[in-house]
Amino acid sequence: MSTKPLTPAATGPAFSPGEVWHDVNGRPINAHAGGILFESGRYYWHGQHMTALPTGAKYPPSAGNLTEVGVSCYSSADLFNWRDEGIALAVSEDPAHDLYKGLRLERPKVLRCPATGRYVMWFHYVRSGKTHAESYEAAVCVADRITGPFRLVKVFRADGNQMVRDCTLYQDDDGKAYFFYASEENMTMHVTQLSDDYLDAGVRWERILIGEQREAPALFKHQGRHYLITSGCTGWSHNSAAYAVADHPLGPWKTIGNPCVGPDARTTYESQSTFVLPVQGRPNAFIFMADRWNYANMADSRHLWLPITLKSDATIEIPWRARWDLSVFN
Ligand code: GAL
Repeated sequence: MSTKPLTPAATGPAFSPGEVWHDVNGRPINAHAGGILFESGRYYWHGQHMTALPTGAKYPPSAGNLTEVGVSCYSSADLFNWRDEGIALAVSEDPAHDLYKGLRLERPKVLRCPATGRYVMWFHYVRSGKTHAESYEAAVCVADRITGPFRLVKVFRADGNQMVRDCTLYQDDDGKAYFFYASEENMTMHVTQLSDDYLDAGVRWERILIGEQREAPALFKHQGRHYLITSGCTGWSHNSAAYAVADHPLGPWKTIGNPCVGPDARTTYESQSTFVLPVQGRPNAFIFMADRWNYANMADSRHLWLPITLKSDATIEIPWRARWDLSVFN
């Protein structure tokens, strides 16, 4: 694969899904399975900072990536030029700390809580893979600034001791926020409404996509309808995406099918969903964000962004594009 930087060239800046994407300092953007929040004219991208394995070490495809650094943050005014804002949530060097490095910290997502004005981060937490059995919990962090530093509020199993795995946060237009998480050994997804301060869950919660075995949830709302894109459960290996629709985040959700089309639709173009980004100021512009995992070298996992086609019958498609820019939404 090419390592050509994604720079504004004579033809204008463009997204090249699956290629190495550099920040403005020329370093690869290391923010995986993350999400993006728009605030005061800038987009803020939080994601997993992933590290390469020591030379010669092997990663079993079933294993998670152990977190040695934390959650990174980048910002951009135009979605093309990204400034490294540093580590928003750092792991701890203290073995007694819940964030002791070597834990598995996955799919971090950030929202601004309207009631408190603070930023909350939720993620899938697995206690230090070096020292503990897998625990599958949710972790909640808070910060006064979008770029952090975030501090840990708590680690817990949601909704009366439910298993928490792949997850995302979603804020509806009315300011209510929801945490979606794969549960029940990944067989069934749950959605739980957050408290007004966004630091707790369980105001209301529902089991959704029951028995469908989906993970990597990513959602958006268009014309009053919610769309929830998920992957199948095959670890770091790619599989087919599917989407479901609902009028309300708590459901009922109805599965429609694979939004990807064409030759590589079955593998989601060798990637896995992570987030859907609404482009500011363009009510019909949504970007599907996915990760193309490289489990031999997680630091070299690639970002794969594609525009979502909203069809007149309220279905969606995500066709492959090797190179594209925001004019596709015109
Ligand atoms: C995937 C999941 C990733 C990570 C990985 C570990 O299924 O979406 O976030 O947990 O498994 O194998």
